[in-house]
Amino acid sequence: MLLKRAAVFFATCLIASIAGAQTLVSADMRPAIDLDGAWTWSTDQYRTGLKNFHGADPSPAARRYSDFDVTEAMRRDPRALYEFDMDRAPTVHLPQSFLTYAPEMRHYNGLVWNQRRFTAHPRPGKRAFLRFGAVDYHAYVYLNGKFVGEHQGGFTPFAFEVTKLLRDGDNRLTVGADSERTAADVPPPSTDWENYGGITRPVSLVFTPATFIDDAWIRLTRDGRVAVTVRLDGPAAAAAPVRVSVPALGLTLTGRTLSDGSWTATAPAPRSLRRWSPESPALYDVRFASGDDVLDDRVGFRTIDVRGHDILLNGKPIFLRGICIHAEEFGADPTRAITPAAARALLTEAKQGLHANFVRLAHYPHPETMLRAADELGLLVWSEIPVYWLVDFTNPQTLKTALKMQTESIERDRNRASIIIWSVGNETPVGDARNAFLRSLIANAHRLDDTRLVSAALLASRKGNVQTIDDPIAPDLDVLAANTYNGWYSADPLSTLPSIEWREAVDKPLIFSELGAGALAGYHDDPAHPHKFSEEFQAEFYRQTLAEASKVGFLRGLSPWILKDFRSPNRQHPIYQQGWNRKGLESETGQRKAAFDVLANYYRALEQHR
Ligand code: GCU
Repeated sequence: MLLKRAAVFFATCLIASIAGAQTLVSADMRPAIDLDGAWTWSTDQYRTGLKNFHGADPSPAARRYSDFDVTEAMRRDPRALYEFDMDRAPTVHLPQSFLTYAPEMRHYNGLVWNQRRFTAHPRPGKRAFLRFGAVDYHAYVYLNGKFVGEHQGGFTPFAFEVTKLLRDGDNRLTVGADSERTAADVPPPSTDWENYGGITRPVSLVFTPATFIDDAWIRLTRDGRVAVTVRLDGPAAAAAPVRVSVPALGLTLTGRTLSDGSWTATAPAPRSLRRWSPESPALYDVRFASGDDVLDDRVGFRTIDVRGHDILLNGKPIFLRGICIHAEEFGADPTRAITPAAARALLTEAKQGLHANFVRLAHYPHPETMLRAADELGLLVWSEIPVYWLVDFTNPQTLKTALKMQTESIERDRNRASIIIWSVGNETPVGDARNAFLRSLIANAHRLDDTRLVSAALLASRKGNVQTIDDPIAPDLDVLAANTYNGWYSADPLSTLPSIEWREAVDKPLIFSELGAGALAGYHDDPAHPHKFSEEFQAEFYRQTLAEASKVGFLRGLSPWILKDFRSPNRQHPIYQQGWNRKGLESETGQRKAAFDVLANYYRALEQHR
């Protein structure tokens, strides 16, 4: 208990020191000026645009964010020197990763400057924010030559106020995106996915009233009440009237904010409320209003909880028939970008193709469009932050970054009924610093959201044929999860997998958060003696691992690794991999492998017998 209290106190202090930037929740639901489209770009491998050769301020000759036509300036003044020109630089369509800007950028890891000009008309009494869906990894933002702010973390949104900087007419937005990570970053440099640097999600200019709704959250509490929390930002945030309505339910909650601009209220859930579930993903229009500001959203209401070994959705035990998905990567030459149609297609393949009711969106917060599609289609979601493998757990700055990333992710997505689990880490090595680090994240998740479950993808220990989940943070988690690759990363003959016995040190539900084997689509082998990377081996791996899983009494879910092959610099077998992790049940172009049907049949049977 003392450790827990210390973790909560530590997390709260750290978060308090991080606050101040606007959340601009559900910004994707606000009217905005879309700044996607044509941008120019310029590489800056030695970061001369940030620091000059002595580490001091960059020389004018390298300042990509300069707010004038540099070539024109050189034409006017023969003594002038600029060694870039963002107005005449090559053009690309954003959002996308800069790995696909040009063939020579395929493996670029570093800083790229991006610029676009846009016309805007500041509105009297209104505030203006530049909002980014995500920039991987470190973003430096300038408007009209002035520094606006910077952000670290490649998968969460951020917004900067530019009310005072926005010009009436032509504006120049410059964004430096630096994909190079250090050991202190989250994730650290070594992962098992491609490092898609750049402006990978939508950019927009959002106008709000002087006082606006910065954060708004509505949910069904575990005791069946509708709860709302609103936080206003602005000069009139204190003691301000707030109104939250769900017209289809005839439900309205009203009140006044406290001195800090926040307000929370609850009301009994109307009897007519249809709870959200994968079978019936009921969504309701919700309106948050205060003063001149209105924020609309579409939200589902459901409860998720645990009781002993069971996971309870709306009070009923559920088995999570899942699959893992990496985000925003499509086709044989992918960039990192997604459209609502592509998100729906991917999730429909999981739901209708595999008969899944659950997806693990690995290993970082996926784009809003994925979560909204999961809400609409009816898929339960595991959402995680990239506290992955060898994070620098001893570094307070790394913890600060992870806590901020987690807060950005939870505040962005806590209105999404589909999300049931927040995960705080993947395959992180046990140790005192790591345990404390993850406990801070667990505490922060519970502080920000008392309606969802918290988990982490753990590694189980193994003695002989007994696999035990005895991770020291297991007691702190609501749901346990373990990644298992017996028979792929171990030499266990596939036929012996069903005899592996699973045990757990604490009585909690378990999810196999990963299990999988590689296969090159189209490579076939003798089914009696299949070799690794053949479709036959992968299919047999699934048959035997599912047999192993079905014997684990406290198992309440699976999310095999992974729906589609994905790029990874770690995977360099010239015949079977060529830079792709081949554990997909489909190839990168959607060609199903034999194992796809093995899992689909298993899930169809579970679905029919639930
Ligand atoms: C790990 C890891 C994944 C990785 C997978 C694999 O468990 O979490 O990110 O891709 O195993 O080895 O294929």
